[in-house]
Amino acid sequence: MTNAAVFNLGNDQAYQEWREAKLADYPKSLGELVVEIQDPYALTTSERNAILQLCAKTNMVVYAVKDPDKIKENPLPALLKQLGVSDVDYNLGAGDSGLSKLSPGGSAHGPFANYIPYRQAQIGWHTDGYYNTNDRQVQTLSLYCERSSHEGGENELLDHEIAYIQLRDENPEFIKTFMDPDVMTIPARMDGDKVARPDRTGPVFSVKDGHLHMRYTARTISIKWKDTPEVKAAIDALTRIMKGPSPYIIRGRLENGLGLISNNVLHTREAFSDLDNGPKRELYRLRCFDRVESP
Ligand SMILES: [Fe+2]
Repeated sequence: MTNAAVFNLGNDQAYQEWREAKLADYPKSLGELVVEIQDPYALTTSERNAILQLCAKTNMVVYAVKDPDKIKENPLPALLKQLGVSDVDYNLGAGDSGLSKLSPGGSAHGPFANYIPYRQAQIGWHTDGYYNTNDRQVQTLSLYCERSSHEGGENELLDHEIAYIQLRDENPEFIKTFMDPDVMTIPARMDGDKVARPDRTGPVFSVKDGHLHMRYTARTISIKWKDTPEVKAAIDALTRIMKGPSPYIIRGRLENGLGLISNNVLHTREAFSDLDNGPKRELYRLRCFDRVESP
């Protein structure tokens, strides 16, 4: 159970106690993150408990639908609702249900069609929605794979609380730097000479209702970091952590019927490809502004 004291740099005792519990028996492989579910529209009590407990421990769960051929309707909204998550991010690239299809042609909104999630390219480390306002940060990031790509598309996952621990252990100043509300700015998105979205400035790490949130992208264009040696040092340290090798970086590919439920952990995506005349990848994403319930 986390609380704000854990993330307060002045309270080393609370941090150390939490850290010890967090790292004890921490999963180190994708298999340990998997929860099998029979029916995503009607979780059993034990399936639900398994998801909530794992999510509280690692901030991420890979669920495996037992019989994906029986799935008639995208299970993400129903699944999340059963986990206490319902404040859907109806972002511009998503359809009316808030679901985004992360494949070429998947954007429901023209101007986003060429954005990287809707292409086949590799995507570096980030959390979702880092360009949102601070009060509309994505707390839950979820995926469902209806059909995996012919090749590629693996994800790397890193619990942002682990990144926090590794940074704080190396130098608590990194945390102070990343909690600075001016540290990272995503410059305005222009539509011709009109501002489609203004600058978004905010911290990397913030604490909401006692839970740690991370706002980050490794991209180097369309981002403005505060120009100080401290910020550079903190970014360098985080970059080293994410580069690995690390037992905490979990790598895998979502195959048919598999999905991710996460408290918006750090993640990457490898490039993927499909055969010209074969079936195309069908991977869906749903983002929400509320968190998976605590167990
Ligand atoms: Fe993402």
